[in-house]
Amino acid sequence: MTGKKLLIKHAAELITCAGAAPKKGAAMADIGIISDGALVAEAGKIVWVGPTDDLPPDSEEQCEVIDATGQCVMPGFVDSHTHMVFGGYRPEEFFWRLAGTPYLEILERGGGILNTVQATRSASLAELKDLAARRLENMLAMGVTTVEGKSGYGLDLDTELRQLAVMDELNREQPVEIVPTFLGAHAVPPDYKGRTDDYVDYMIKEVLPAVVRQGVAEFCDVFCEQGVFSLAQSRRLLAAAKNMGLQAKLHADEIVSLGGAELAAELNACSADHLLQASDAGIAALSQVRTVATVLPMTAFCLRESYARARVMIDQGAAVALATDYNPGSCFSHSMPLVAALAAIQLNMKPAEIVTALTINGAAAVNRADRIGSLEIGKQADVVILGYPSHLYLVYHAGMNIVDKVIKHGRLIWN
Ligand code: NIG
Ligand code: FE
Repeated sequence: MTGKKLLIKHAAELITCAGAAPKKGAAMADIGIISDGALVAEAGKIVWVGPTDDLPPDSEEQCEVIDATGQCVMPGFVDSHTHMVFGGYRPEEFFWRLAGTPYLEILERGGGILNTVQATRSASLAELKDLAARRLENMLAMGVTTVEGKSGYGLDLDTELRQLAVMDELNREQPVEIVPTFLGAHAVPPDYKGRTDDYVDYMIKEVLPAVVRQGVAEFCDVFCEQGVFSLAQSRRLLAAAKNMGLQAKLHADEIVSLGGAELAAELNACSADHLLQASDAGIAALSQVRTVATVLPMTAFCLRESYARARVMIDQGAAVALATDYNPGSCFSHSMPLVAALAAIQLNMKPAEIVTALTINGAAAVNRADRIGSLEIGKQADVVILGYPSHLYLVYHAGMNIVDKVIKHGRLIWN
């Protein structure tokens, strides 16, 4: 953080994304574009936003000034769903899947998530931290100023805590803010095979309390999926987590339509994620609550699954966020540009809706919409400047990283 003032002026488009959050349904297209816009930040916060012509006369005094002529200024991106702390890689599985082996079958055979669990268990904190730090640098270069990260490659007390400790330490040592999520129910480890309820008991009695005692997670997530954790098991774990002060997230209806979207709505989860197979009733339920429907189109792309029905969700009034799902299995990519392109081309989302989904609704999906996700007075000055004059280029310049500058807490940190 810095006490120095920052002034950004003459932005061809300054996108505020202001307004009540999460933005639901039609409100998602309302992104508050100011032409020839300007913004002033002081002590890490936004203190002024408006047309450059209206800047108070002494605005440039003692300010670092960025001239954004021909550029688009918008809130920093929030990647609200990743699994970025892990050891090892699984390139061979990608090609097994392309050759026809289903994702869940690879997991059932002891590969998939369980493969990464082995590699993560045998990695030290320093090794995991070094890998995660490099990933965060790459994310930052794509405009990500806040990222959610999940545990879930330990499935035992020590390794789950180690993954969370990595995020905790990195939060203090580098600029991208990390939102930590406990995902101990990501798969059933081999020593609990066939005893999923016992594993859920172990999570509730031993691992969750330790996580909460250490204060290293804000959310609890579950991979609610056929052959992994049932609706009842997910409900039980998330209820216990809520009692201990963690908010709920859910991997819902990713491969099989189980009713995960309905469960997320029932629990008033902060977000329901994936939703490729969400039922009509599940989408209707999400549109009635504040739960953010987090759609991860790169996972559908990499798994060759059908895409989530984001258009239907928005048209029915749900709040949609977009995120990467960066992980070594189902989606080994943290490309925000590819997410934006797929959202337009495959999900039929409008460019303005995509902006909302990557910023203020992403912030809502990690319970931070009061602090980040929009460019409004009093909010954290987390800003992205695109090398092109409009947000349309996020989609139109397909798959390209068009981020020119990144500002975090009012400080230029990537250029
Ligand atoms: O969101 N499906 C569960 N978890 C991740 C994949 C994790 C992995 O394959 O390592 C997901 O797709
Ligand atoms: Fe995921």
